[in-house]
Amino acid sequence: MGRPTPELPLLALLLLLPQALRGAPCPEPCRCPPDGALSCPGPRTNLSRLSLTYLPIKVIPSQAFRGLDEVVKIEISQSDSLEKIEANAFDNLLNLSEILIQNTKNLVYIEPGAFTNLPRLKYLSICNTGIRKLPDVTKIFSSEINFILEICDNLHITTIPGNAFQGMNNESITLLWQDRDEAINKFKCP
Ligand SMILES: *[C@@H]1O[C@H](CO)[C@@H](O)[C@H](O)[C@H]1NC(C)=O
Ligand SMILES: *[C@@H]1O[C@H](CO)[C@@H](O)[C@H](O)[C@H]1NC(C)=O
Ligand SMILES: *[C@@H]1O[C@H](CO)[C@@H](O)[C@H](O)[C@H]1NC(C)=O
Repeated sequence: MGRPTPELPLLALLLLLPQALRGAPCPEPCRCPPDGALSCPGPRTNLSRLSLTYLPIKVIPSQAFRGLDEVVKIEISQSDSLEKIEANAFDNLLNLSEILIQNTKNLVYIEPGAFTNLPRLKYLSICNTGIRKLPDVTKIFSSEINFILEICDNLHITTIPGNAFQGMNNESITLLWQDRDEAINKFKCP
C-alpha cells in the first residue's frame, strides 16, 4: 500500500521521448506514417478543427478525411515532407468552411479536383508552398456567396491563367494574390 513506483515516471519519459524527437504528434483520428499517406477517417463526434502540423507525411491521398462530417476547419502546415495532394483529397466535407495549407515548401503537386463538393467552403488559403500553377477550384461547388482564395508566397507561380476560374457555377470568388513585388492584389470574379 502506498508503495512508491519510481518506474512510472521513467516509463512515461521513454514513451514520450520518441514523439518529442519526431516532432508534433499525429492528431486523433489520423494516421501519419513517415513518408506515407495521411489518413483521417471519420466519423468523429465533436471534431470541428483539425490541425496537422510538423507531420512526416508525403501525400494527402484521395478521401483522406472521409467521413469527418463535422469538421469545419483543416489546417496543414510546417511539413517539409509533404509533396502531393491527390484528386478528391478534400471531397464531400459538407461542413468544411476553411482550408489552410501553409509553409509546405516541397508541396509541388495539387492534382486537379483535389477540392471537390465543399458546399460550405468560404476560405482556401495556399501560402508558401512549391506549387507551380494555381490550384483547380472549379469543382468546389461552394454555395457561399463570397468565396476567398488566398494565394501567397508561392514563388513558383508567376501568372494567373485566363481560364483559371472557368466552370465555376455561381459563386463569386475573391482572389487575394501576392505578386513578386509583395503587393497584395485583389480580384473579384465574376
Ligand atoms: C460533444 O459535445 C457535446 C457538447 O459540447 C457534449 O455534450 C457531448 O458529450 C460530446 N460528445 C462526445 C462524444 O464527446
Ligand atoms: C455539420 O456538423 C453538425 C455538428 O456540428 C452536425 O450535426 C451535422 O450533421 C453536420 N452536417 C453534415 C452535413 O454532416
Ligand atoms: C448555385 O447553383 C446551384 C445549381 O447549379 C444551386 O443549387 C445553388 O443554390 C446556387 N447557389 C447560389 C448561391 O446561387
